[in-house]
Amino acid sequence: MDDFILRVEGLWKNFGGLTAVSDYHLHLPQGATFGLIGPNGAGKTTIFNLISGVIKPTKGKIFFKGRNITSFRPDQIAALGLTRTFQNLRLFPSLSVEMNLKIGAHVHAKCGFVSTLLSLPSLFREEKVITERAQNILEVFELEDYRNELCSNLPYGLQRKLDIARSLMTEPEVLFLDEPSAGMNDQEAEELAQVVREIKERFRLTLVIVEHRMPFVMGLAEVIQVLDYGSIIASGSPEEVRNNPKVVEAYLGTGDLIA
Ligand SMILES: Nc1ncnc2c1ncn2[C@@H]1O[C@H](COP(=O)(O)OP(=O)(O)OP(=O)(O)O)[C@@H](O)[C@H]1O
Ligand SMILES: [Mg+2]
Repeated sequence: MDDFILRVEGLWKNFGGLTAVSDYHLHLPQGATFGLIGPNGAGKTTIFNLISGVIKPTKGKIFFKGRNITSFRPDQIAALGLTRTFQNLRLFPSLSVEMNLKIGAHVHAKCGFVSTLLSLPSLFREEKVITERAQNILEVFELEDYRNELCSNLPYGLQRKLDIARSLMTEPEVLFLDEPSAGMNDQEAEELAQVVREIKERFRLTLVIVEHRMPFVMGLAEVIQVLDYGSIIASGSPEEVRNNPKVVEAYLGTGDLIA
């Protein structure tokens, strides 16, 4: 059995002439909170897309819970327990908060059309499980009061929270968050950091967080990798990477490291 819940070896991605990711490695122990940072265009989202199966690598291998998932489809990877959020929200604006959560569970829903006809009791059981999980998650995220509210009526900060809440409906073991605090004010980001700590404990998650907001990611992650032009230029504790001259140089002029 693999020592790491997720292991990425020698991952490359070329888009035509552009090498977006080169020789990327990740050894993620179960229960870790890992940060992935780097200036705009460094390749962070591309790495999430590769690991979650949205795009295929040019070269390299990805192992999840000891299985080689490199050629798996996104839905297969999600069903195994690896889920990611997207940098741009993918909620259904004209559905209620609760419906958005329930739709998020469909990857695990076993009842197809035929089994629906043949076995209504199991459908009801499944619906019950999904409703209970949605309720549980609404409570953790303090979204119960908004249960029947249309998603589009939620303030932006709550929509970002709902997007993370929804990702938990598939019962992931590993969760990738792509800029979860984007567009939030400092207070919303601080509250979100608290929610992230809470869900990590409660749902025994292993987390990988991409962020530009340094206090957020440095306050949560034990280990941080820094990418620049698709390559890892540093990795270590938040303190180590913050003081690494290569990192300071890569971020020069962006203002992101000043916090
Ligand atoms: N589908 C694609 N086709 C062509 N080029 C792409 C594609 N996806 C990403 N790229 C390029 O790959 C590079 C890495 O992009 P990526 O989105 O991974 O960066 P990022 O680190 O997530 O940046 P940001 O912080 O701005 O979100 C960029 O130069 C981008 O333009
Ligand atoms: Mg990105």
